[in-house]
Amino acid sequence: MTAPALELRRLGKTFVLGRGRARQEVQAVRDVDLVLPSGGILGLVGESGSGKTTTAMLALRLTDPTSGQILLEGADITHLPPAALRAHRRRMQVIFQDSYSALDPMFTLARSVAEPLMIHGIGTARERHEAAEGWLERVGLRGYGARYPHELSGGQRQRVAIARALILRPSVLIADEPTSALDVSVKAQIINLLMDLQQEMNLSILFVSHDLSVVRSLTDRLAVMWHGRIVEEAPTEAIFAAARHPYTQALLDAIPAHHPRQRRQRSFQSRTQIEAAVPRIPAADLALPAVPGPLPQLATLSSGHRAEVIVT
Ligand SMILES: Nc1ncnc2c1ncn2[C@@H]1O[C@H](COP(=O)(O)OP(=O)(O)O)[C@@H](O)[C@H]1O
Ligand SMILES: [Mg+2]
Repeated sequence: MTAPALELRRLGKTFVLGRGRARQEVQAVRDVDLVLPSGGILGLVGESGSGKTTTAMLALRLTDPTSGQILLEGADITHLPPAALRAHRRRMQVIFQDSYSALDPMFTLARSVAEPLMIHGIGTARERHEAAEGWLERVGLRGYGARYPHELSGGQRQRVAIARALILRPSVLIADEPTSALDVSVKAQIINLLMDLQQEMNLSILFVSHDLSVVRSLTDRLAVMWHGRIVEEAPTEAIFAAARHPYTQALLDAIPAHHPRQRRQRSFQSRTQIEAAVPRIPAADLALPAVPGPLPQLATLSSGHRAEVIVT
């Protein structure tokens, strides 16, 4: 069996703000367990502030965890020093919502796309340039190599970001809200491009989004994050067909319906209302054993479907 592309084990991150009496701790990520199978697409969804970007930054080792482990293709990278991390970094690349800031305005697009090859000392200048032109063509920007970032639309900039991320042929791509700033039609084009590239390269993708409707067509599995925790994780269609956690249900209800009259309305919105609606499930009904307790715990309800419930 091949190791998962990426595995997060009981990952936690606490930010400390202020000092002395003003000192405050923010538990941005708590005990996150996630597996991105090799060649799979896992969606990570949740409202703004739920801890999605922090989880992505932890996975990329762009911020250090307070607790837990990160395994990339089976290798524990949690505590690797920068020099040892370099080789692994090549295997995992990222695109953000705002790729514009990642592109140097003074560089041509070919140079920006070729830069990762230069950083890793791959190829001659000519080979790098050719590879960059090839990637620009692959993402639908044939002949754009001599242009500059300011000449591009938002969707075109995301295409450049994708070319730049994939030129190193990583096995894992982390995409943090890559389509959130784009118009609906452009959004669909970028999603289609990512799906094509995923197939071609057997990429494993962690796709972060606050928008459930965007991830539905793209992902195999979905993990739902709420207040720093994973509250539900299951095959995407199982989430849409039979979400178990009240927060997931509220997220689904927030998707604009095609026919407004069919739209179900659920009344709970606040944290306390959601907590009060967490289902209570007898231990005997779970697919994997769990110890009954008064607090919600992430339990395996059926094969491959986990949700926070109170086990009775
Ligand atoms: N560098 C930081 N310092 C302090 N708090 C942070 C930092 N980054 C994120 N947070 C806090 O962590 C929580 C989760 O943020 P984030 O991971 O950005 O969520 P999301 O991507 O889901 O919107 C928020 O409460 C946010 O304010
Ligand atoms: Mg974010």
